[in-house]
Amino acid sequence: MGVARLVVAALVTASLVTEAVVAQSTDAILRQLQANGVDITALNITSTTVPRAQKGCSILTSALVKLFPSQTLTSREASFSNWTESFWSQQQEEVTPKSIFKPACPIDVSSAVLLAELFSCPFAVKSGGHAAFSGASNIQGGLSIDLSGLDNITLSSDQTVASVGAGNVWVDVYNYLEPYGLSVIGGRVSTIGVGGLTTGGGISFFSQEYGWACDNVVNYEVVLASGIIVNANVSSYPDLYWALRGGGNNFGIVTRFDLRTHVQGSLWSGSLIYLPEQSDEAIDAFYYYGVNAASDSKSAVIMNWAYTQGMFFAVADLEYANATINPPIFQNFTAIPAYQNTMEVRTLPEVTDMFQVDNPDGLRESYWTATFALTKEMIAYCVETFETEVVRAANATGYLPALVLQVISTDVTTQMQKNGGNALGLSPSDGNLLLLNLSFMWGDIADDNLILNILGAITSKTIAYAKANGLYKEYLYMNYASQYQAVIPSYGTENFNKLKSVSAKYDPYQVFQNLEPGYFKLSGQAPNTTYPS
Ligand SMILES: Cc1cc2nc3c(=O)[nH]c(=O)nc-3n(C[C@H](O)[C@H](O)[C@H](O)COP(=O)(O)OP(=O)(O)OC[C@H]3O[C@@H](n4cnc5c(N)ncnc54)[C@H](O)[C@@H]3O)c2cc1C
Ligand SMILES: *[C@@H]1O[C@H](CO)[C@@H](O)[C@H](O)[C@H]1NC(C)=O
Ligand SMILES: *[C@@H]1O[C@H](CO)[C@@H](O)[C@H](O)[C@H]1NC(C)=O
Ligand SMILES: *[C@@H]1O[C@H](CO)[C@@H](O)[C@H](O)[C@H]1NC(C)=O
Ligand SMILES: *[C@@H]1O[C@H](CO)[C@@H](O)[C@H](O)[C@H]1NC(C)=O
Ligand SMILES: *[C@@H]1O[C@H](CO)[C@@H](O)[C@H](O)[C@H]1NC(C)=O
Ligand SMILES: *[C@@H]1O[C@H](CO)[C@@H](O)[C@H](O)[C@H]1NC(C)=O
Ligand SMILES: *[C@@H]1O[C@H](CO)[C@@H](O)[C@H](O)[C@H]1NC(C)=O
Ligand SMILES: *[C@@H]1O[C@H](CO)[C@@H](O)[C@H](O)[C@H]1NC(C)=O
Ligand SMILES: *[C@@H]1O[C@H](CO)[C@@H](O)[C@H](O)[C@H]1NC(C)=O
Repeated sequence: MGVARLVVAALVTASLVTEAVVAQSTDAILRQLQANGVDITALNITSTTVPRAQKGCSILTSALVKLFPSQTLTSREASFSNWTESFWSQQQEEVTPKSIFKPACPIDVSSAVLLAELFSCPFAVKSGGHAAFSGASNIQGGLSIDLSGLDNITLSSDQTVASVGAGNVWVDVYNYLEPYGLSVIGGRVSTIGVGGLTTGGGISFFSQEYGWACDNVVNYEVVLASGIIVNANVSSYPDLYWALRGGGNNFGIVTRFDLRTHVQGSLWSGSLIYLPEQSDEAIDAFYYYGVNAASDSKSAVIMNWAYTQGMFFAVADLEYANATINPPIFQNFTAIPAYQNTMEVRTLPEVTDMFQVDNPDGLRESYWTATFALTKEMIAYCVETFETEVVRAANATGYLPALVLQVISTDVTTQMQKNGGNALGLSPSDGNLLLLNLSFMWGDIADDNLILNILGAITSKTIAYAKANGLYKEYLYMNYASQYQAVIPSYGTENFNKLKSVSAKYDPYQVFQNLEPGYFKLSGQAPNTTYPS
């Protein structure tokens, strides 16, 4: 998507609505920049001369180079291409921004947003860069704001809250907390970013006991569209606090997450890999695990079916939140003869490093999601559909398709109600839910159409089956959704409307809708409305 088109879109909006509605006034922006300590005289701008939207990103780039020379990268710098290569998926690496800005503190983030508004330059925000589709956290021809410099981690004196800069990756947080015997609710692979995972929800090994990552944020420090930095928590901007728990990048740029800590030692964890003839037994074990999960809140299971070397393997990733070996909750899995067994007692950083190995950077990637009621038939239908469809691309280079199923148990949805609840629209009355994560890797752009078509077909077929059998749950998990899925409306009409009103209140000029176009927005449209066919 060209920036030219975006700028044109912004101009079209501007001509339809009065100027006062579409943007913060130049004077207000300049005042806030000055309050941030930015030398606005260097911008050569007065309220009458501001070249709003005229080649905005070029002017913004010159301004950033002038004001923040050591924090701005343009294509002239050798490290520019290193930066564009720093995403997890190849699709995001193919995007070339006009400039890259690396804030060193929250005020720098505020200044970047204000300057982007001043010059009407579209922007994207990157934390760990693990969103898979292009434009999610990088922007063609625009300003990419890289939060990796916001990497502070501190622990409150009573050790109950870890304050984590939004540019950290999870393994650094876990390594920091481990010597204290503590941890937080976060990602399960080392280099996932704190920012994206937490703003979209965030499933951890400990979610049965504590809920998702967003349910354990006691305070968000967030830069609003006005450039003002506020704390959103249960007693300060509680509506914004609610919206940030699952609402994604729509309300502001979070600069710091204050996370509730919990006591955490080593885990009994690893994988059991089963040959195809054990697949049905694995379905049974996983189904009964789902039924019983809520009886043991220390347990977590990620159940995978993967196709490699012409064979379908079932892989049970089992994690137990203490050092108990083979607890009863896992014994249906451990009773099945495994082709390979890597279960061991490991520290949390060790577990996340182990899973990192299976998720290399730089390949083509796509993930898709859906949510169903948990039944054995639904699981079996997902496996059968996956196995039928994936072989259509059997010869694709570097092809590694996986069907990944997890349970959102009533333990998890009970925890989601704390602190006023989150925005996701899930409740214990939904019962135990089956969360679909299709996760495909491949090597060659020439196979994109075929593989996206396969992913779309598996998703559509499983949803159709669920609907026909009364097993469909509308919810789409943002962090697993593809660009063809409309996430925010899936939270339910009431939450969708509430999110839009929170946005109207804190972002009256809709900066985070119009100038930050990537990922899942409050328009409720899928980022790409042309479903692969
Ligand atoms: C290998 C792998 C393992 C994964 N494991 C898990 C897992 O265990 N649990 C789970 O729930 N999910 C998991 N995911 C999904 C993951 O949560 C999403 O991919 C998430 O978006 C990654 O966050 P990030 O910061 O790395 O991504 P980014 O691509 O940097 O960001 C994703 C989106 O969030 C926005 N964003 C980032 N930071 C901020 C901020 N501070 N303020 C406002 N908006 C922000 C970005 O603008 C972007 O739109 C995994 C994904 C991969 C690829
Ligand atoms: C600001 O404008 C003046 C007069 O047009 C020009 O001489 C000067 O170089 C400009 N400064 C910058 C930093 O662009
Ligand atoms: C780019 O990355 C390579 C490989 O990681 C590294 O050797 C090189 O120093 C980097 N260059 C710059 C300019 O950062
Ligand atoms: C990082 O944390 C330290 C210790 O709490 C603090 O002194 C410092 O100001 C913080 N830095 C930033 C950029 O927030
Ligand atoms: C909530 O925000 C207020 C206002 O900034 C702050 O004083 C308070 O400490 C915050 N509460 C938490 C739990 O961080
Ligand atoms: C682990 O948890 C189980 C079940 O909660 C408990 O019975 C056991 O004592 C715990 N073991 C350790 C080593 O903490
Ligand atoms: C194990 O499987 C049996 C059915 O084979 C089921 O009755 C039982 O509840 C399961 N146990 C657990 C802990 O999942
Ligand atoms: C894959 O390649 C083999 C050998 O060339 C061929 O027989 C088979 O039909 C191909 N499969 C697909 C799905 O293209
Ligand atoms: C989906 O599951 C696979 C396999 O466990 C995992 O590697 C991948 O990171 C998951 N996808 C997401 C988006 O979490
Ligand atoms: C949207 O997806 C279609 C395939 O369904 C693809 O052809 C098209 O290029 C995508 N559009 C954008 C803007 O990425």
